[in-house]
Amino acid sequence: MRKKVIAGNWKMNMDLSESINLISGLKSALKEKKLNCNVVICPPYISLDTARELVKESDIELGAQNMYFEDSGAYTGEISAEMLKSVGCKFVILGHSERRTIFGETDELINKKVHKAILSKLIPIFCFGETLEERESNRTFDVVKKQVVEGLKGVLHSQMESIILAYEPVWAIGTGKTATPDQAEEVHKFVRNLLEEMYNKETADGVVIQYGGSVKPDNAYELLHMPNIDGALVGGACLKAESFVKIIEGC
Ligand code: PGA
Repeated sequence: MRKKVIAGNWKMNMDLSESINLISGLKSALKEKKLNCNVVICPPYISLDTARELVKESDIELGAQNMYFEDSGAYTGEISAEMLKSVGCKFVILGHSERRTIFGETDELINKKVHKAILSKLIPIFCFGETLEERESNRTFDVVKKQVVEGLKGVLHSQMESIILAYEPVWAIGTGKTATPDQAEEVHKFVRNLLEEMYNKETADGVVIQYGGSVKPDNAYELLHMPNIDGALVGGACLKAESFVKIIEGC
C-alpha cells in the first residue's frame, strides 16, 4: 500500500523570518493531528538549516528545490547533494517545469541529477508534465513518456523504491487551472503502466506518483482519492499554514 506524500514547494518565497513563522504555524497546526500521509516542506536553501532545527520532533520532513549533480568545485551558485544532506534534507525536487523552461534544464541534465540524488540517498521528487500547447495538440502522452523514460534512464529496479514522481501539467502550475481528477488520473495511470513496461508490476505499483498544479484545499480531496494519485506537490497553497494543513487533511 503506497503512503501518500504531500510536499510543499515554496519556490522563491519566504525570507528567513517568514520561513520561521510558516514552519511554526505548520507545526502547531499539525501537532495533535493523526496524519495519513507524509509531509515534506521544501523551503529556499537559505532557510534549510533553520528549518531542520524547527521540524525536529515533528512529523514534517525536509526537502530542497534543486541541486547540482557534481560533488564540489567551480560551479558558482550551485548546491550539491551532500550539502543538502548536511542541513537535514531527505528529499530534493528535480526537473520542475520552472527549471526546465526558465533555466533550460534538459532531460539529460535532470537524469544526471536523479542519479546523483539516489546515490547520495536523497529521495528525488522527479517532475514531468506537458504544456498547454502539447496537450491541445494531443501530445500529452508522448511528452510525458519521453520525460519519464529519459529522466529515469539507467535507474535500476531496486532504486525505484527511493524515488517519487510528480505529474505537473505546466498549464496547471500557478494558473489556478487544475487538471480535473479524471484528467490527472488518466496520466497517472499511463505513467504507472509505463513504469510496468520499464520495470515490472511490483515496482510500478510501489512508486508514489504525486499530482501538482494548483492543488488547493477545495480540490485536494478529490484528486487525492483517485486510484493512481498518491499525494500532491503544492506551490501557492503551501505558503499559508492553514491551506497547506487543509490539503494534508484531504489525504
Ligand atoms: P502551484 O505550483 O500549486 O502554485 O500551481 C505547483 C508546483 O509548481 O509544484
